[in-house]
Amino acid sequence: MAGIQARIETALERMLPGPDIAPARLHAAMRYAVLGAGKRVRPLLVHAAGEVVTPEGTEEWLTRLDIPACAVECIHAYSLVHDDLPCMDDDILRRGKPTVHVEYDEAIALLVGDSLQSLAFQLLADERTTLDAKTRIAMVRILAMAAGSHGMAGGQAIDLASVGEKLSMPELEFMHIHKTGALIRACVNMGARISGGLNENEFASLDSYGRCIGLAFQVVDDVLDAESTTATLGKTVGKDADDNKPTYVNIMGLSPAKAFAGELRAQAHQNLAVFGKRARRLGELADFIVLRKF
Ligand code: IPE
Ligand code: IPE
Ligand code: MG
Ligand code: MG
Ligand code: MG
Repeated sequence: MAGIQARIETALERMLPGPDIAPARLHAAMRYAVLGAGKRVRPLLVHAAGEVVTPEGTEEWLTRLDIPACAVECIHAYSLVHDDLPCMDDDILRRGKPTVHVEYDEAIALLVGDSLQSLAFQLLADERTTLDAKTRIAMVRILAMAAGSHGMAGGQAIDLASVGEKLSMPELEFMHIHKTGALIRACVNMGARISGGLNENEFASLDSYGRCIGLAFQVVDDVLDAESTTATLGKTVGKDADDNKPTYVNIMGLSPAKAFAGELRAQAHQNLAVFGKRARRLGELADFIVLRKF
């Protein structure tokens, strides 16, 4: 997977506007937000789902997968820049560096988010890619649904409206599935649907896998906020408690939250069983998402 991370880094660097191209400050800030750090879990998921469809993919096949992989990372990076703004979580550290509004300013941070979101769809729609028109439209639709008010942005709205509230378990799950789960699920679906080859039952299994790991990702993010260190995570820990956010940790408790993440990991693996070895990498990513320390 290190090889995929390296090719994603190169592809992102190529797809982002150069830091000297006008408006240079905006372009430099976009690059600051995207390049050089981040676990790249979402691009890895796109590639791993693509491997289920086409194991041992050629270079041409990998290049096809790079497009949705980079597009989703642009949406993710934008969501982090906006999430850190004073009007949202008001964070000063991200990926081990000052957040974009601290390093630049708030207006630039807003515009970085706007521009990265547009860039994501520009990448997917570009007719010079090797994707056919029908596939490009399918990708645009999956990503748009996952990023918008029925996905990430909607989840963020619930998150902000829930400060100081004691959510029920179904409400908490709804919030997490939207703010974080939707984009992760979209990665799996984009990788799976980039070419024909799977039947509807297989798509449904992969979608269920995506739902499990998407939820697990945020459960673990909540756990890490409670028990990791700022140096390890590259973002300020303890913020959720300080900000009175409802999380799996303060609603269930630390140990039950970890146990729940473990259950989701097991469910994720069950959904992969039908694919055998072709889903090895998706299985490893489910393990990473739940067992990670950063
Ligand atoms: C952090 O995402 C924000 C959430 C959606 C929980 P990641 O943990 O994937 O952040 P990076 O991309 O590795 O920095
Ligand atoms: C973020 O959730 C979800 C996003 C859509 C960015 P958090 O607010 O918990 O993410 P971190 O902990 O700041 O990375
Ligand atoms: Mg937040
Ligand atoms: Mg945050
Ligand atoms: Mg968090």
